[in-house]
Amino acid sequence: MNIQQLANALPDAILLLNNNGEIIWANQQAQTLLPVKKLTKAQTPAALIGKEAFAKSWSNKAEDFFEGKLSNHKYITYCLKKYEQNHYLFIIQDISRTHHLERMRQDFVANVSHELRTPLTVIRGFVEILLTKLKNKQTQEILLQIEQQSKRMQNIIEELLFLASLENIEHRETNYESIEVPHLLELIKQDAEKLSQGRHQFMLEIDTSLILLGVRNELYSLFSNLIFNAVNYTPAPGKIIIRWFLKENQAVFEIVDNGIGIEKKHIDRITERFYRVDKARSSASGGTGLGLAIVKHVLIHHQAKLVIKSKLQQGSTFTCTFPEKLIQFAKNKNHFVNN
Ligand SMILES: Nc1ncnc2c1ncn2[C@@H]1O[C@H](COP(=O)(O)OP(=O)(O)O)[C@@H](O)[C@H]1O
Ligand SMILES: [Mg+2]
Repeated sequence: MNIQQLANALPDAILLLNNNGEIIWANQQAQTLLPVKKLTKAQTPAALIGKEAFAKSWSNKAEDFFEGKLSNHKYITYCLKKYEQNHYLFIIQDISRTHHLERMRQDFVANVSHELRTPLTVIRGFVEILLTKLKNKQTQEILLQIEQQSKRMQNIIEELLFLASLENIEHRETNYESIEVPHLLELIKQDAEKLSQGRHQFMLEIDTSLILLGVRNELYSLFSNLIFNAVNYTPAPGKIIIRWFLKENQAVFEIVDNGIGIEKKHIDRITERFYRVDKARSSASGGTGLGLAIVKHVLIHHQAKLVIKSKLQQGSTFTCTFPEKLIQFAKNKNHFVNN
Protein backbone atom coordinates (compact mmCIF):
# COMPACT_ATOMS: atom_id res chain seq x y z
CA MET A 1 0.00 0.00 0.00
CA ASN A 2 1.47 3.37 -0.91
CA ILE A 3 1.09 6.62 0.99
CA GLN A 4 -1.59 7.98 -1.35
CA GLN A 5 -3.82 4.92 -0.85
CA LEU A 6 -3.34 5.32 2.86
CA ALA A 7 -4.31 9.01 2.72
CA ASN A 8 -7.39 8.10 0.66
CA ALA A 9 -8.52 5.72 3.36
CA LEU A 10 -8.49 8.45 6.02
CA PRO A 11 -11.79 10.04 7.12
CA ASP A 12 -10.34 13.60 6.94
CA ALA A 13 -9.79 15.74 3.86
CA ILE A 14 -6.08 16.15 3.23
CA LEU A 15 -4.57 18.67 0.86
CA LEU A 16 -0.88 18.82 0.07
CA LEU A 17 0.19 22.43 -0.55
CA ASN A 18 3.33 23.91 -2.00
CA ASN A 19 5.16 26.93 -0.67
CA ASN A 20 2.67 29.30 -2.33
CA GLY A 21 -0.25 27.64 -0.64
CA GLU A 22 -1.38 25.97 -3.87
CA ILE A 23 -2.88 22.49 -3.87
CA ILE A 24 -0.64 19.91 -5.48
CA TRP A 25 -2.49 16.84 -4.31
CA ALA A 26 -5.74 16.01 -2.49
CA ASN A 27 -7.12 12.78 -1.08
CA GLN A 28 -10.52 11.37 -2.00
CA GLN A 29 -12.26 12.66 1.10
CA ALA A 30 -11.35 16.22 0.06
CA GLN A 31 -13.48 15.79 -3.06
CA THR A 32 -16.52 14.71 -1.04
CA LEU A 33 -16.19 17.20 1.79
CA LEU A 34 -15.29 20.39 -0.03
CA PRO A 35 -17.87 22.39 -1.98
CA VAL A 36 -16.31 21.90 -5.44
CA LYS A 37 -16.99 19.46 -8.21
CA LYS A 38 -13.35 18.95 -8.99
CA LEU A 39 -10.24 20.11 -7.26
CA THR A 40 -7.84 21.67 -9.71
CA LYS A 41 -4.14 22.16 -9.27
CA ALA A 42 -2.88 25.65 -8.41
CA GLN A 43 -6.12 26.33 -6.48
CA THR A 44 -5.55 27.39 -2.91
CA PRO A 45 -7.74 26.26 -0.01
CA ALA A 46 -8.86 29.91 0.17
CA ALA A 47 -11.10 29.26 -2.82
CA LEU A 48 -12.67 26.34 -0.95
CA ILE A 49 -13.01 27.41 2.65
CA GLY A 50 -12.93 31.21 2.24
CA LYS A 51 -10.12 33.73 2.01
CA GLU A 52 -10.20 34.90 5.63
CA ALA A 53 -10.55 31.40 7.02
CA PHE A 54 -7.51 30.16 5.13
CA ALA A 55 -5.47 33.26 5.97
CA LYS A 56 -5.85 32.48 9.69
CA SER A 57 -3.70 29.39 9.47
CA TRP A 58 -1.60 30.35 6.43
CA SER A 59 -0.52 33.84 7.50
CA ASN A 60 1.56 32.66 10.44
CA LYS A 61 1.72 28.99 9.49
CA ALA A 62 -0.07 28.30 12.74
CA GLU A 63 -0.56 24.67 13.65
CA ASP A 64 -3.67 25.65 15.63
CA PHE A 65 -7.04 24.15 14.85
CA PHE A 66 -9.63 26.64 13.60
CA GLU A 67 -13.35 26.18 13.13
CA GLY A 68 -15.26 27.21 10.06
CA LYS A 69 -18.33 26.68 7.93
CA LEU A 70 -18.31 25.73 4.26
CA SER A 71 -20.64 27.05 1.58
CA ASN A 72 -22.24 23.58 1.49
CA HIS A 73 -23.24 24.17 5.16
CA LYS A 74 -20.78 21.66 6.54
CA TYR A 75 -18.97 22.56 9.75
CA ILE A 76 -15.25 21.92 9.78
CA THR A 77 -12.08 22.25 11.79
CA TYR A 78 -8.89 22.79 9.87
CA CYS A 79 -5.22 22.83 10.59
CA LEU A 80 -1.99 23.46 8.70
CA LYS A 81 1.05 21.24 9.30
CA LYS A 82 4.50 21.59 7.82
CA TYR A 83 5.33 18.55 5.73
CA GLU A 84 8.94 18.05 4.73
CA GLN A 85 10.65 21.03 3.16
CA ASN A 86 8.50 23.53 1.26
CA HIS A 87 5.31 21.55 1.66
CA TYR A 88 2.33 21.79 3.93
CA LEU A 89 -0.51 19.48 4.81
CA PHE A 90 -3.87 21.18 5.13
CA ILE A 91 -6.13 18.88 7.11
CA ILE A 92 -9.88 19.43 7.21
CA GLN A 93 -12.22 17.52 9.50
CA ASP A 94 -15.98 17.34 9.09
CA ILE A 95 -17.53 18.14 12.49
CA SER A 96 -21.09 18.72 11.25
CA ARG A 97 -22.49 15.89 13.37
CA THR A 98 -20.82 17.03 16.58
CA HIS A 99 -21.86 20.58 15.79
CA HIS A 100 -25.45 19.44 15.30
CA LEU A 101 -25.49 17.53 18.61
CA GLU A 102 -23.96 20.50 20.41
CA ARG A 103 -26.64 22.71 18.89
CA MET A 104 -29.36 20.31 20.09
CA ARG A 105 -27.91 20.37 23.60
CA GLN A 106 -27.84 24.17 23.62
CA ASP A 107 -31.41 24.43 22.31
CA PHE A 108 -32.63 21.88 24.83
CA VAL A 109 -31.12 23.74 27.79
CA ALA A 110 -32.41 27.05 26.49
CA ASN A 111 -35.92 25.66 25.92
CA VAL A 112 -36.15 23.96 29.31
CA SER A 113 -34.93 27.10 31.05
CA HIS A 114 -37.42 29.19 29.15
CA GLU A 115 -40.33 26.85 29.97
CA LEU A 116 -39.46 26.85 33.69
CA ARG A 117 -39.54 30.62 33.88
CA THR A 118 -43.32 31.08 33.92
CA PRO A 119 -44.30 28.42 36.49
CA LEU A 120 -41.58 29.68 38.78
CA THR A 121 -42.82 33.25 38.53
CA VAL A 122 -46.31 32.01 39.46
CA ILE A 123 -44.99 30.09 42.50
CA ARG A 124 -43.05 33.13 43.70
CA GLY A 125 -46.10 35.32 43.27
CA PHE A 126 -48.28 33.02 45.39
CA VAL A 127 -45.62 32.65 48.08
CA GLU A 128 -45.49 36.42 48.39
CA ILE A 129 -49.27 36.57 48.84
CA LEU A 130 -49.20 33.77 51.44
CA LEU A 131 -46.42 35.54 53.32
CA THR A 132 -48.66 38.55 53.83
CA LYS A 133 -51.67 36.39 54.82
CA LEU A 134 -50.34 33.53 56.95
CA LYS A 135 -48.64 35.00 59.98
CA ASN A 136 -48.09 31.77 61.93
CA LYS A 137 -44.36 31.60 62.80
CA GLN A 138 -43.80 28.05 61.58
CA THR A 139 -45.68 28.68 58.33
CA GLN A 140 -43.70 31.88 57.76
CA GLU A 141 -40.44 29.96 58.14
CA ILE A 142 -41.54 27.39 55.56
CA LEU A 143 -42.74 30.07 53.17
CA LEU A 144 -39.47 31.98 53.49
CA GLN A 145 -37.60 28.77 52.62
CA ILE A 146 -39.78 28.30 49.52
CA GLU A 147 -39.18 31.93 48.57
CA GLN A 148 -35.42 31.63 49.01
CA GLN A 149 -35.12 28.36 47.07
CA SER A 150 -37.32 29.52 44.24
CA LYS A 151 -35.23 32.69 43.98
CA ARG A 152 -32.19 30.45 43.67
CA MET A 153 -33.85 28.44 40.93
CA GLN A 154 -34.75 31.63 39.15
CA ASN A 155 -31.11 32.76 39.27
CA ILE A 156 -29.98 29.45 37.77
CA ILE A 157 -32.54 29.74 34.98
CA GLU A 158 -31.59 33.34 34.18
CA GLU A 159 -27.90 32.40 34.10
CA LEU A 160 -28.53 29.35 31.90
CA LEU A 161 -30.45 31.55 29.47
CA PHE A 162 -27.66 34.12 29.54
CA LEU A 163 -25.12 31.36 28.84
CA ALA A 164 -27.27 30.07 25.98
CA SER A 165 -27.31 33.52 24.41
CA LEU A 166 -23.54 33.79 24.86
CA GLU A 167 -22.97 30.45 23.15
CA ASN A 168 -25.04 31.47 20.17
CA ILE A 169 -22.30 33.61 18.68
CA GLU A 170 -23.01 33.01 15.03
CA HIS A 171 -26.60 34.18 15.34
CA ARG A 172 -25.76 37.31 17.18
CA GLU A 173 -24.81 40.74 16.00
CA THR A 174 -21.88 41.69 18.13
CA ASN A 175 -22.46 45.33 18.82
CA TYR A 176 -19.42 46.59 20.58
CA GLU A 177 -19.65 49.96 22.29
CA SER A 178 -17.16 51.99 24.29
CA ILE A 179 -17.32 50.79 27.87
CA GLU A 180 -16.01 52.99 30.66
CA VAL A 181 -14.53 50.08 32.57
CA PRO A 182 -13.17 52.32 35.41
CA HIS A 183 -16.70 53.58 36.14
CA LEU A 184 -18.17 50.08 35.82
CA LEU A 185 -15.62 48.68 38.29
CA GLU A 186 -16.37 51.48 40.75
CA LEU A 187 -20.08 50.55 40.68
CA ILE A 188 -19.39 46.83 41.10
CA LYS A 189 -17.02 47.60 43.97
CA GLN A 190 -19.84 49.40 45.77
CA ASP A 191 -22.06 46.31 45.38
CA ALA A 192 -19.21 44.08 46.53
CA GLU A 193 -18.87 46.23 49.65
CA LYS A 194 -22.52 45.61 50.44
CA LEU A 195 -21.99 41.87 49.97
CA SER A 196 -18.88 41.99 52.13
CA GLN A 197 -20.56 43.84 55.02
CA GLY A 198 -17.22 45.10 56.24
CA ARG A 199 -15.47 41.75 56.22
CA HIS A 200 -13.04 42.78 53.48
CA GLN A 201 -10.75 45.63 52.64
CA PHE A 202 -10.96 46.68 48.97
CA MET A 203 -8.20 48.30 46.95
CA LEU A 204 -8.75 49.72 43.49
CA GLU A 205 -5.78 50.26 41.19
CA ILE A 206 -7.39 51.61 38.08
CA ASP A 207 -6.07 53.30 34.97
CA THR A 208 -8.95 55.75 34.45
CA SER A 209 -7.98 56.51 30.87
CA LEU A 210 -8.37 52.90 29.76
CA ILE A 211 -11.63 52.22 27.92
CA LEU A 212 -12.69 48.98 26.28
CA LEU A 213 -14.77 48.20 23.22
CA GLY A 214 -17.20 45.50 24.22
CA VAL A 215 -20.70 44.41 25.19
CA ARG A 216 -21.85 46.17 28.34
CA ASN A 217 -24.00 43.55 30.08
CA GLU A 218 -21.48 40.84 29.28
CA LEU A 219 -18.57 42.79 30.73
CA TYR A 220 -20.66 43.71 33.77
CA SER A 221 -21.33 40.02 34.31
CA LEU A 222 -17.67 39.10 33.84
CA PHE A 223 -16.31 41.66 36.31
CA SER A 224 -19.04 41.19 38.90
CA ASN A 225 -18.77 37.40 38.88
CA LEU A 226 -15.04 37.52 39.53
CA ILE A 227 -15.29 40.26 42.15
CA PHE A 228 -18.21 38.64 44.02
CA ASN A 229 -16.36 35.31 43.95
CA ALA A 230 -13.38 37.00 45.59
CA VAL A 231 -15.73 38.21 48.35
CA ASN A 232 -17.54 34.88 48.71
CA TYR A 233 -14.39 32.77 48.88
CA THR A 234 -12.35 35.02 51.15
CA PRO A 235 -13.04 34.82 54.87
CA ALA A 236 -12.69 37.88 57.11
CA PRO A 237 -10.47 39.80 57.43
CA GLY A 238 -9.99 39.60 53.68
CA LYS A 239 -8.09 41.80 51.31
CA ILE A 240 -9.24 42.22 47.72
CA ILE A 241 -7.36 44.12 45.01
CA ILE A 242 -9.08 45.11 41.78
CA ARG A 243 -6.74 46.19 38.97
CA TRP A 244 -7.36 47.61 35.50
CA PHE A 245 -4.24 48.57 33.58
CA LEU A 246 -2.34 48.58 30.31
CA LYS A 247 0.40 46.00 29.84
CA GLU A 248 2.31 45.46 26.61
CA ASN A 249 -0.47 47.19 24.65
CA GLN A 250 -3.12 44.92 26.14
CA ALA A 251 -5.79 45.79 28.68
CA VAL A 252 -5.64 43.73 31.84
CA PHE A 253 -8.33 43.16 34.46
CA GLU A 254 -6.98 41.48 37.55
CA ILE A 255 -8.56 40.50 40.82
CA VAL A 256 -6.47 39.34 43.73
CA ASP A 257 -7.80 37.90 46.97
CA ASN A 258 -6.23 36.29 50.00
CA GLY A 259 -9.02 33.77 50.44
CA ILE A 260 -9.38 30.01 50.59
CA GLY A 261 -7.61 29.46 47.28
CA ILE A 262 -8.13 26.67 44.74
CA GLU A 263 -6.22 23.42 44.59
CA LYS A 264 -4.22 22.96 41.38
CA LYS A 265 -6.24 19.94 40.24
CA HIS A 266 -9.46 21.98 40.20
CA ILE A 267 -8.14 25.03 38.34
CA ASP A 268 -8.51 23.57 34.84
CA ARG A 269 -12.10 22.59 35.52
CA ILE A 270 -13.65 25.42 37.49
CA THR A 271 -14.87 27.26 34.40
CA GLU A 272 -17.11 24.27 33.57
CA ARG A 273 -20.81 24.66 34.26
CA PHE A 274 -21.84 23.66 37.80
CA TYR A 275 -18.28 22.69 38.70
CA ARG A 276 -17.63 23.46 42.32
CA VAL A 277 -14.65 22.66 44.46
CA ASP A 278 -16.74 22.22 47.56
CA LYS A 279 -20.34 21.39 46.60
CA ALA A 280 -21.78 21.69 50.08
CA ARG A 281 -20.25 25.07 50.85
CA SER A 282 -20.96 26.54 47.40
CA SER A 283 -24.65 25.71 47.51
CA ALA A 284 -24.90 27.30 50.91
CA SER A 285 -23.22 30.45 49.57
CA GLY A 286 -26.18 30.85 47.20
CA GLY A 287 -24.06 30.70 44.04
CA THR A 288 -25.32 28.95 40.93
CA GLY A 289 -22.05 27.31 39.85
CA LEU A 290 -22.42 29.03 36.49
CA GLY A 291 -20.47 32.23 37.18
CA LEU A 292 -17.10 31.16 35.81
CA ALA A 293 -18.70 29.46 32.79
CA ILE A 294 -20.24 32.84 31.98
CA VAL A 295 -16.86 34.50 32.57
CA LYS A 296 -15.24 32.09 30.12
CA HIS A 297 -17.77 32.76 27.37
CA VAL A 298 -17.67 36.53 27.79
CA LEU A 299 -13.90 36.37 27.46
CA ILE A 300 -14.16 34.28 24.27
CA HIS A 301 -16.51 36.93 22.85
CA HIS A 302 -13.98 39.61 23.55
CA GLN A 303 -11.05 37.55 22.28
CA ALA A 304 -9.60 37.76 25.75
CA LYS A 305 -7.67 35.23 27.81
CA LEU A 306 -8.02 34.09 31.42
CA VAL A 307 -5.18 33.00 33.66
CA ILE A 308 -5.93 31.66 37.15
CA LYS A 309 -3.22 31.44 39.76
CA SER A 310 -4.04 30.16 43.18
CA LYS A 311 -2.63 28.65 46.33
CA LEU A 312 -4.69 26.80 48.86
CA GLN A 313 -5.34 28.87 52.00
CA GLN A 314 -3.34 31.77 50.54
CA GLY A 315 -5.52 33.24 47.85
CA SER A 316 -6.24 33.50 44.15
CA THR A 317 -5.50 35.81 41.25
CA PHE A 318 -7.72 35.90 38.17
CA THR A 319 -6.17 37.78 35.25
CA CYS A 320 -8.11 38.65 32.08
CA THR A 321 -6.16 40.05 29.14
CA PHE A 322 -7.98 41.90 26.34
CA PRO A 323 -6.44 42.42 22.88
CA GLU A 324 -5.04 45.74 21.71
CA LYS A 325 -7.71 46.22 19.04
CA LEU A 326 -10.42 46.60 21.71
CA ILE A 327 -8.60 49.34 23.60
CA GLN A 328 -9.55 53.01 23.52
CA PHE A 329 -8.28 55.88 25.60
CA ALA A 330 -10.28 58.53 27.41
CA LYS A 331 -9.24 62.12 26.89
CA ASN A 332 -8.37 62.74 30.51
CA LYS A 333 -4.82 62.23 31.73
CA ASN A 334 -3.59 58.80 32.57
CA HIS A 335 -3.71 58.54 36.34
CA PHE A 336 -4.36 55.93 38.95
CA VAL A 337 -7.09 55.87 41.52
CA ASN A 338 -6.19 54.09 44.67
CA ASN A 339 -8.64 53.78 47.51
N1 LIG B 1 -11.73 33.65 44.23
C1 LIG B 1 -11.93 32.34 44.46
N2 LIG B 1 -11.30 31.70 45.49
C2 LIG B 1 -11.48 30.39 45.73
N3 LIG B 1 -12.32 29.60 45.02
C3 LIG B 1 -12.99 30.16 43.99
C4 LIG B 1 -12.83 31.55 43.65
N4 LIG B 1 -13.61 31.80 42.58
C5 LIG B 1 -14.22 30.63 42.26
N5 LIG B 1 -13.85 29.64 43.11
C6 LIG B 1 -14.28 28.22 43.05
O1 LIG B 1 -14.78 27.96 41.75
C7 LIG B 1 -16.12 27.46 41.83
C8 LIG B 1 -16.91 27.95 40.63
O2 LIG B 1 -17.16 29.34 40.71
P1 LIG B 1 -18.48 29.94 40.05
O3 LIG B 1 -18.58 29.39 38.67
O4 LIG B 1 -18.49 31.40 40.22
O5 LIG B 1 -19.66 29.25 40.87
P2 LIG B 1 -20.28 29.61 42.32
O6 LIG B 1 -19.57 30.82 42.83
O7 LIG B 1 -21.71 29.88 42.04
O8 LIG B 1 -20.08 28.37 43.14
C9 LIG B 1 -16.64 27.95 43.17
O9 LIG B 1 -17.65 27.11 43.64
C10 LIG B 1 -15.40 27.91 44.04
O10 LIG B 1 -15.21 26.60 44.52
MG1 LIG C 1 -19.60 32.62 41.62
